[in-house]
Amino acid sequence: METIDRTWWKEAAVYQIYPRSFCDSNGDGIGDLPGILQKLDYVQGLGVDAIWLNPVYASPNVDNGYDISDYFTIQPEFGTMADFDRLLGEVHRRGMRLVMDLVVNHTSSRHPWFIESRAGRNSPYRDYYIWRDPAPGGGPPNNWGANFGGPAWTLDEATGQYYLHLFAPQQPDLNWENPAVRRDVFAMMDFWFQKGIDGFRMDVISLISKGGFADGPLMANGVYGDPAPQCANGPRVHEYLREMNRRVLSRYDCLTVGENAGNTPEQACLYAGFGRGELTMSFQFDLMDVDGGERDKWTARRTWKLADIKQVMTRWQTALDGRAWNALFWENHDQPRCVSRFGDDSTGETRVRSAKMLATCLFLMQGTPYIYQGQELGMTNTHFDSIGQINDVQTRGGYRMRVEQCGDDPARVMETVNYISREHARTPMPWTDGPNGGFTDGVPWIPLNPNFKTINAAAQLADPDSVYHYYRALLALRKSDDVLLYGRYALEMADSPQVYAYTRTLNGRGALVACNFTGRPAPCPLPAAWQNVPRILGNYPDAPAGGALRPYECAVYLQPRA
Ligand code: NOJ
Repeated sequence: METIDRTWWKEAAVYQIYPRSFCDSNGDGIGDLPGILQKLDYVQGLGVDAIWLNPVYASPNVDNGYDISDYFTIQPEFGTMADFDRLLGEVHRRGMRLVMDLVVNHTSSRHPWFIESRAGRNSPYRDYYIWRDPAPGGGPPNNWGANFGGPAWTLDEATGQYYLHLFAPQQPDLNWENPAVRRDVFAMMDFWFQKGIDGFRMDVISLISKGGFADGPLMANGVYGDPAPQCANGPRVHEYLREMNRRVLSRYDCLTVGENAGNTPEQACLYAGFGRGELTMSFQFDLMDVDGGERDKWTARRTWKLADIKQVMTRWQTALDGRAWNALFWENHDQPRCVSRFGDDSTGETRVRSAKMLATCLFLMQGTPYIYQGQELGMTNTHFDSIGQINDVQTRGGYRMRVEQCGDDPARVMETVNYISREHARTPMPWTDGPNGGFTDGVPWIPLNPNFKTINAAAQLADPDSVYHYYRALLALRKSDDVLLYGRYALEMADSPQVYAYTRTLNGRGALVACNFTGRPAPCPLPAAWQNVPRILGNYPDAPAGGALRPYECAVYLQPRA
């Protein structure tokens, strides 16, 4: 018998809420915590076990909450600490858990630490951030570019030094070398754990240790150098995470997931390897890069191939098996909608089928599923006519870089925006087909996707064949059997250009998952051993026949218990 090392966070499915766009309770057009509270029954009904909240802390909102000015206060637009306490209590009362966002690579430039830090070279907080003198001939200390365009250094005229910001100028990087920074961050984490939260999703945590400040290789835009070689997975990052674990995390039964863009499976095993005393799991971004959508989304977009999806997922499933735990996602607040990107949203029928197929394919692999709000409705990308319609700082920065610095045709750049912008994920949640989709009584902070009249939660709750009800069935199935939770993954039909098929096995019993990623029938001869095994889930009313899958068909076979 293989032994199973059970933990709640391995068996859980996580539902991600982007509070700004989830549900507005007070008519200001911005989602809020009381709004989330109103929808907890809906979330629970889906069968998820935990909620991950994007940042809800006080923030000037340059990057929608990823620029925090006070870690101990709730963003007034979202409500009060009393609202938060009520939400946490209600989440727990329903038997769910609450995971918060931890944003500690940087703060807002309006955080009191930074205000103090820039007050003078001798400020006791100077060393909370990363300050450098200008280069010998003047100008920034090195050639690094920031993530949202422009240089990664901004000059503070008053003190004559530059500060580092890997993201917007209003997001100065904290100096983790300083033990006082670590102490204060850990105390803040402890404050939230003492309230009873159940974990943290850790924003760009692989960037917190800077290894040096030499120029980086020129990035694809040809203008700035890439900070990643010295800032990603820097020399002290594991030391810091172990210290965090020793001082805070190890005292709580919590889920911790690192946002580790660019990590290999080997690196993920360092961040989240069993027994390593760091994190419990790690998000990988190789899947998001099969279309070039991650590493250089503004310059190197390409058509994804099923072979690459298989190769990436098989590599991660295999490398982490028995060593670390996968975090499985198609979507989050930084990605476009998966049914538009990897499925087919061109007709109602293909949208529903392919949304179900994508969920089946990914969420029955080994790992913890993360469902981004609206994904369970098969929400689609929207359309942007011009950059003026976009709120997101990253999209605006990428557009500016291409059009102003690289001289690209604005119409072509808008094609990229429409393909990959984070804004797609941020359109408000459509609850009903009524005014503003029931999201707000006021004017929504960004427009709803116009298709909310047909794609909305009320319609799907009423329709037993909806994407929503399929997600429910899928999550329930996953939790019902250790084979699907803990079984070992193996790729089947590796060479099929249309079908992604794999098995999961545990203690001599197995499941087979087969998914047609195309809108054409696909040959899918069942191996002999599977021919009499019942199909227990699929997105067509009846099981596939004749050794083929219908368009976007998925089918799950599970060997009965003896
Ligand atoms: C990753 C977050 O997911 C993203 O939304 C944010 O803009 C950056 N980190 C900076 O905090």
